[in-house]
Amino acid sequence: MKNIVCLISGRGSNLEALLNAARVQDWGTALSAQVTAVISNRADAAGLNFARAAGIATTALDHRGFASRELFDTALADEIDAHNPTLVVLAGFMRVLTAPFVERYRGRLINIHPSLLPAFPGLATHRQALTAGVRVHGATVHYVSADVDAGAIIGQAVVPVRPDDTEDTLASRVLTQEHVLLPRCGRLILEDKVGWHSDGGSGRVWCAPGVAEQLLVTL
Ligand code: GRF
Repeated sequence: MKNIVCLISGRGSNLEALLNAARVQDWGTALSAQVTAVISNRADAAGLNFARAAGIATTALDHRGFASRELFDTALADEIDAHNPTLVVLAGFMRVLTAPFVERYRGRLINIHPSLLPAFPGLATHRQALTAGVRVHGATVHYVSADVDAGAIIGQAVVPVRPDDTEDTLASRVLTQEHVLLPRCGRLILEDKVGWHSDGGSGRVWCAPGVAEQLLVTL
């Protein structure tokens, strides 16, 4: 069985989308894959409730209880490794990870970011997009590298920016597409149709013939 471990910090709607896809598409049978554990750095993360209701093991590991980022990441890695994951998914995990942590999971650690990277890394991405006046915006699933929001891009979802958009309307349009993009990228990785290889830098994404089109989600 291929185990998936998800890390969250809050609402957990991307986690929910992943779990729904796994249930509806029966990933257990179709892919021999299962979400084995959900770990949050916040005990009050709403996503933990959803995971519990789905019968998945949950852990809250409060980063404030650790004297350094390194110590937190070591404890986090111990928790993750207990589940022997094929894939580790950052689904709204709002902590910057240390280089040793990233190195340990190189090629099996993915993140979803709410912009069309490399545009608008960091926080407040929808505000950044509105301020820049771009006509298209979206979300990116990428392999995690030591530099924040800079790893090799797996897939992207594109949405229009409308003249009357607010941060909220734009965020909600993007989020709807995130919920398509993340499960799709996860599935393609678990099917061994998409993967990562080292190139001495942040690495490169490879994909099987005919798969590239599936890595672009449009409205
Ligand atoms: C999403 O917008 C995701 O792209 C970003 O954090 C947000 C998490 O939302 N990394 P949710 O917790 O999945 O609802």
